Amino acid sequence: MQTLTVSLGDRSYPIHIGPGLLDRADLVLPHLPQKRAVIVTNTTVGPLYLERFSKTLRDAGIQVDAVVLPDGEAYKNWETLNLIFDALLTQRAERKTTLIALGGGVIGDLTGFAAACYQRGMPFIQVPTTLLAQVDSSVGGKTGINHPLGKNMIGAFYQPQLVLADTDTLSTLPQRELSAGMAEVIKYGLIRDEAFFVWLEQNADRLMARDTEALIHAIRRSCEHKAEVVAADERETGQRALLNLGHTFGHAIEAGMGYGVWLHGEAVAAGTMLAADLSRRMGLIHPTDQERMAALFRRTGLPVAAPSLSEAVYMDAMGVDKKVEGGRIRFVLFRRLGEAFVSGDYDPAALRETLTAGGCGVEAAHRPA
Ligand code: NAD
Ligand code: GLY
Repeated sequence: MQTLTVSLGDRSYPIHIGPGLLDRADLVLPHLPQKRAVIVTNTTVGPLYLERFSKTLRDAGIQVDAVVLPDGEAYKNWETLNLIFDALLTQRAERKTTLIALGGGVIGDLTGFAAACYQRGMPFIQVPTTLLAQVDSSVGGKTGINHPLGKNMIGAFYQPQLVLADTDTLSTLPQRELSAGMAEVIKYGLIRDEAFFVWLEQNADRLMARDTEALIHAIRRSCEHKAEVVAADERETGQRALLNLGHTFGHAIEAGMGYGVWLHGEAVAAGTMLAADLSRRMGLIHPTDQERMAALFRRTGLPVAAPSLSEAVYMDAMGVDKKVEGGRIRFVLFRRLGEAFVSGDYDPAALRETLTAGGCGVEAAHRPA
């Protein structure tokens, strides 16, 4: 097992990464203020891991209840959030009861937001079971839900007490979901670590074949980056916005296509290619960098072209992005491969060309859910 720390003063917490962690009550116990927990999961992850993880906790003397939610991005909304509150109230959960998210990013974001709100804040633990959640969403305390008009627009910054990433759970992950997680792994290389990008180029096949050692290295390196960025800028007043590479376009794709049609990671990959295209048109990066990115996304099973949404749909959806300032959309752009920056100072003509070339009229490698 490998352990990292997210350093946030008295709200610091460990990230444990490795196999067999669902059997390790000893890692959970020190973080429970009360020997009581409610596990939130969904109808896919529940049958796979809920009983095993509940038993681990019960055998250690912890009272465990569960809430099983419907599965899918389309359920990351108020109605589903309310199901968690209904269960917490019915089960008489207390302020010191710990809420545990067992699942991917959707469960993690919903559960974290519920924990932030219930009795104005209860402890919570992330047990991520997708690659995407293990490398990104379980770390850093962004929680929330979608609104039909905008992705992740309602939520809270609320840090977990612990992240327990059992890499064995990745063995049951569908290949399309493994690919989606790779989009966020590649992101770290693209924004701040060219050497990691090169390592990913060299090890893409091992990762896609789920080589344990390669996966653990990629998860660890990703979490190191995430922990460092979050420690420096927890509430995204500066560099944390770089973690949104491809997300401004990507969120527009997710909302524009209907939540769940394109997976988050797929939308981020296509969105990253649009950000690269815009950067190249603005004379910021060389076409060969764009080609290297596309090659790695393709090798990891990700789309490199966006779906045929109209320019108006993109502009509308991007207008409610959380990075908008004074009505101006801000993008994460490339200075070079391995170095990104945030700017509202883009060339509108170049953006139009990007959306026309990569966003409109080009049929995407779109695979319906
Ligand atoms: P997800 O939570 O929908 O999980 C993907 C699918 O895999 C689901 O069907 C799920 O039930 C299933 N699944 C989960 N674990 C499994 C396992 N071990 N075996 C088999 N199936 C399994 O999607 P995701 O990609 O994990 O997360 C995407 C969400 O995360 C988006 O809503 C996105 O906005 C959010 N996100 C949040 C942050 C953050 O910082 N909070 C960062 C990135 C993404
Ligand atoms: N996934 C973006 C962030 O956590 O800031």
